[in-house]
Amino acid sequence: MALKKANILIVDDDYDMLELVQRQLQEQNFHSYKAASVVEAINILKYNAVDLLITDLQMPGIGGMELIKYVEEHFPKVPKLVITGYPSIDGALRAMKSGALDYLVKPFTTEELKTSVEKTLPKKSLRSEDNTPSTGKSMVYAGIVGQSEEIELLIDLIERVKNNRATVLIQGESGTGKELVARAIHYKGSFAANPFIAVNCGAIPEDLLEAELFGYKKGAFTGANENRDGFFQAAARGTIFLDEIGTASLTVQTRLLRVLQEKEVRRIGEQKAHKIELRIIAATNSDLQKMVENGSFREDLYYRLNVMHIETPPLRNHKSDITLLAKNFLKKYAAEYAKPNIKFTPKALQVLERYDWPGNVRELENVVQRAIIMSEHNIDIEQLPDYFKYPAPTISSISKSLQQVEKEHILKIMASVDNNKTRAAEILQIDRKTLRKKLK
Ligand SMILES: Nc1ncnc2c1ncn2[C@@H]1O[C@H](COP(=O)(O)OP(=O)(O)OP(=O)(O)O)[C@@H](O)[C@H]1O
Ligand SMILES: [Mg+2]
Repeated sequence: MALKKANILIVDDDYDMLELVQRQLQEQNFHSYKAASVVEAINILKYNAVDLLITDLQMPGIGGMELIKYVEEHFPKVPKLVITGYPSIDGALRAMKSGALDYLVKPFTTEELKTSVEKTLPKKSLRSEDNTPSTGKSMVYAGIVGQSEEIELLIDLIERVKNNRATVLIQGESGTGKELVARAIHYKGSFAANPFIAVNCGAIPEDLLEAELFGYKKGAFTGANENRDGFFQAAARGTIFLDEIGTASLTVQTRLLRVLQEKEVRRIGEQKAHKIELRIIAATNSDLQKMVENGSFREDLYYRLNVMHIETPPLRNHKSDITLLAKNFLKKYAAEYAKPNIKFTPKALQVLERYDWPGNVRELENVVQRAIIMSEHNIDIEQLPDYFKYPAPTISSISKSLQQVEKEHILKIMASVDNNKTRAAEILQIDRKTLRKKLK
């Protein structure tokens, strides 16, 4: 299936070997490039999207080991598989230390090659829909922006779960894209034509949640003036997204467990059960395992929900995506606020990249949106919230004495007011005499 799209580069000075491996890969529908030397290989790498490198170690001139180190340095996302004759297993082990993921000892069978290739191929080659070259340049997947390993792993997981109905639990800090992931699973998968119903378990009052989820029969309680379907029936054959599942009461948890076990729902006040066929995705930013330990979340429900586990990474763990994300939000909001020419200054991007983003991608999105509203031309540090204007303390500043910090601060203020002592004294809220004394 999708794997067939991968491009594999085979490097060996032995033409027979090149032919053989290419044929074997062809049988598995892989496309491959052949190179008889390291120089040739590097040329191919430079101009083509290569998903996997398979290289011999012993070659005249520049050897496979050098190639591995070169690829590790210049194309770190390309996995490396080593083929070697028996005597140089030692070399294979050294190659593994330099970044190769696996090795094959000659002669090997088609089956062995296949296993190794599948093991080492980057997960993103499993993607089916988007045809973006697999050079680590793919950037948007169902609204998910990023090209870091963390995001690639996330997308890989989505690809794995999207076409089946296994229950998925998404865990991650606030603003890391849990809902985005849930939607991606639904809209990229086989049931995309059916409904996606998002239920925020935290936003609906506890006594209403049961009725909302499962529906009710006329007369089941005061106010139940008609028969009503719940979200579960509404999401039939599609996906129900139970957001903030950690906030569901124990009563609701018990009922959810029944639904998961029996795959049917009973409306409140009704004996008859309705079969349901849908996928459940739950999300939480609380530590459910801890909640299980302290008795506030049912263990059996936790295991039922956690069939497939997806973790959305905090932004500080994939800072390499910050610029890309910021530029994406810039594009989005520049269009929305009709400011098409707006850009970040390099300095502004630099401080965005350095920041730790406790509110994750949502915080970044808000900061960019606000900056666009505030700016006419470029977004510089001035248009960012105050906390970007004062860099976080570094180790060297932490070890400074109070006197040093005072001195530096006074000098900074003096410089900012062109050495106007009256202005500086005003800002520092000390009188001019004290300032003069300190300046001495
Ligand atoms: N990788 C990403 N690429 C693009 N946008 C993202 C990404 N991650 C998050 N966002 C955006 O950030 C915002 C927050 O995402 P989302 O609501 O999915 O987070 P969440 O994990 O559900 O947060 P919370 O726990 O607070 O509900 C949304 O506007 C979403 O589109
Ligand atoms: Mg959310």
